[in-house]
Formats: sequence, C-alpha cells, structure tokens
Amino acid sequence: MLGRYLALVVGAIAAAGLPARAQAEEAPAGQHDFSRCAACHSTEPGKNGVGPSLAGVVGRSSGGAPDYSYSTAMKNAHVTWDAATLDRFLANPQSVVRGTKMFVNIPDETARGNVIAYLATLK
Ligand code: HEC
Repeated sequence: MLGRYLALVVGAIAAAGLPARAQAEEAPAGQHDFSRCAACHSTEPGKNGVGPSLAGVVGRSSGGAPDYSYSTAMKNAHVTWDAATLDRFLANPQSVVRGTKMFVNIPDETARGNVIAYLATLK
C-alpha cells in the first residue's frame, strides 16, 4: 500500500521534472547571452526601453517596433531582420546600419548564433 503510494509520488515528480529539465537544456545558451541585451531590450510586445522591444523581431523590418523612437539611420535602413542580417548587425551594428544608436555587439560567433536562435523564439 505505502509502496504503491510512493511509486505514484515518485512517478509524478519524475513526470513534472522532465520537461523542466529538457527546457533548461535547450533554451539557456541564447537566453544567457541575451542577458546583456535585456538591459535595453524587453522581450514583451509593445514594451520598449532604451531600445525597442525585440518581440517578433525575426522576420520583421528594421525600425518596426510600434511607438519606439528610432534613429533616422534605423528608420531609413529598410533591412529585414533574419538570421543573416542579424548576424552581421550583431557582429558590428554600424556595418549594417551606419549611424544607428545601438552600439553593443557580440564578437563571438557562437554566442551570436545562440542569441539569434533565442530571438527567433520571441513571438
Ligand atoms: C545600451 C542599450 C542597448 C543594448 C545593451 C543593446 N541594444 Fe539593441 N538597440 C538599442 C537601441 C537604442 C536600438 C535602436 C537603434 C536605432 O534606432 O538606431 C537598438 C536596436 C536593436 C535592433 C533593431 C531592432 C528593430 O526594431 O529594428 C536589434 C535587432 C537589436 N537592437 C538587438 C540587440 C541585441 C541582440 C542585443 C544584445 C547583444 C542588444 N540589442 C543590446 C540599444 C541597445
């Protein structure tokens, strides 16, 4: 009786614990690298900070976050943010949008790839 109860409890804990562990293994590289960005960028739609919200940024046109006051350079850039353009922008923002007020970069290619993968999860 007690044995069966224990087995149930252990089973429930294992079932609850598994997805959390799987998530912790998949998401964090990019999320960890994104912590530097989070000082200026929220991941919630419509919530702008020093920088625009990055919710839905992958696939969006540059300068596209509503109610954010972009630099003239970014307003006129007409870049579509995808893996390739983000990779160049995050390596060296000025090389893609000369005159942008974003000056933070990610020199490490792996970290850049991780952050871009994380950005793609933000809808
Ligand atoms: C010190 C503040 C700051 C930090 C830190 C920062 N950014 Fe920015 N970011 C900005 C600002 C300001 C803009 C708007 C640039 C403009 O209007 O020229 C911007 C714009 C962007 C854009 C273009 C968004 C759009 O709507 O077109 C992307 C993509 C971006 N940042 C990604 C990142 C990532 C990824 C990181 C982390 C590595 C990061 N930023 C770190 C301030 C920051």
